[in-house]
Amino acid sequence: MSRMKRADRPYDLVLFGATGFVGTLTAAYLAAHAPADLRWAIAGRDEMKLRRLRDALPGGAEPGVLRADVSDPASLRALAGHARVLATTVGPYVAYGEELVAACADAGTDYLDLTGEPEFVDLMYVRHDARARETGARLVHACGFDSVPHDLGAYFTVRQLPEGVPLTVDGYVSADATFSGGTFASALGQFARGRQMVTAARERHRHEPRLMDRRATAPLGTPRFAPEVGAWALPLPTIDPQIVRRSAKALERYGPDFRYRHYAAVRRLPVAVGGTAAVGALFAAAQVPPARRWLSDRLKPGAGPSAEKRARSWFSVRFVGEGGGRRVYTEVSGGDPGYDETAKMFAEAALSLAFDDLPETAGQVTTAVAMGDALTERLRAAGIRFRVAASR
Ligand SMILES: NC(=O)c1ccc[n+]([C@@H]2O[C@H](COP(=O)([O-])OP(=O)(O)OC[C@H]3O[C@@H](n4cnc5c(N)ncnc54)[C@H](OP(=O)(O)O)[C@@H]3O)[C@@H](O)[C@H]2O)c1
Repeated sequence: MSRMKRADRPYDLVLFGATGFVGTLTAAYLAAHAPADLRWAIAGRDEMKLRRLRDALPGGAEPGVLRADVSDPASLRALAGHARVLATTVGPYVAYGEELVAACADAGTDYLDLTGEPEFVDLMYVRHDARARETGARLVHACGFDSVPHDLGAYFTVRQLPEGVPLTVDGYVSADATFSGGTFASALGQFARGRQMVTAARERHRHEPRLMDRRATAPLGTPRFAPEVGAWALPLPTIDPQIVRRSAKALERYGPDFRYRHYAAVRRLPVAVGGTAAVGALFAAAQVPPARRWLSDRLKPGAGPSAEKRARSWFSVRFVGEGGGRRVYTEVSGGDPGYDETAKMFAEAALSLAFDDLPETAGQVTTAVAMGDALTERLRAAGIRFRVAASR
């Protein structure tokens, strides 16, 4: 449970960016599933839009309405001071996110977001982790499809393996889904910031304490056919392997020498080749400002896949874990990864920080470290499957 007593703040949970695509889905999820005594508010820059959203929420939910704008730091500090837990969807985070992280770290307010931007997470570690440790705030990034199923899936897999021995886990992601304007804008922005990303990672490396008597690595694998999952495996250099590695660094349960590799699993070779070429072309176009602007005009912020499209979407992350003479196959799977399931993961993570009995942590922490068991159980109860497919 959040260290803060309920009486300390008017709201248990404030959802900032509630009027965006994922924000609206998250607000609807909370209205339908949160405990009746949750004291919560929706926040954003447009009060009329927030009131319209509140009027449309299911079950007659009546969260408070708070106005705040990322260009007005005082409004963000006020927001952080109103909540025990603050969940924000306002991205791209590298452009809009820092002031709120700073405000939450200062106020001792637990913070979570949906970023998949390594540069942002590294800079927030360098600039705000120490302050958050002083105040007790937990700063939990990447609480959506990036990186909850991968982080909790690796954690779940490790727990099926023996303790105290070197372990390896490979994760294979497959999905059928599309993305929103907000996600597209964040991805394009990231592709254009390769240099800044490397600089931020180096800066973090200089500040972060080293592991003395254990190892945790997440090397980029090589493309190959993976018979263990019956698919072509393409290395995925997303934020997910970094998050899994941080969980492994923090938790002894991952053993003395842990290695994680992260792949996209693609059944047909032409799809694997075509997909790699398409990402390469997008990456190249993102380096040229007019091409980047043209691309971002194709999909506007606030827009996203329809409810029908989302209902047909799915994801599966298969893991192969090995160590101590044992091999285990596990899977985390569910529906539409980027939006319906992201809203569910985000809302449940926020509720977990607000109400669950969790290990004592503070500063920048991953989902597995901050709330591994509790969040896994919440997500299972909410319909996301964690299963052991086979072991020997
Ligand atoms: N990790 C994952 O798996 C995952 C999945 C989905 C999305 N995401 C990320 O989540 C973020 C949101 O995605 P989305 O599709 O929901 O985007 P979106 O529809 O564009 O929503 C963005 C939200 O930010 C708000 N906002 C923008 N500028 C603001 C400002 N100056 N002050 C206050 N609020 C401001 C918008 O308010 P208005 O409504 O007033 O415009 C809106 O509520 C993106 O960064 C995306 O990459 C991550």
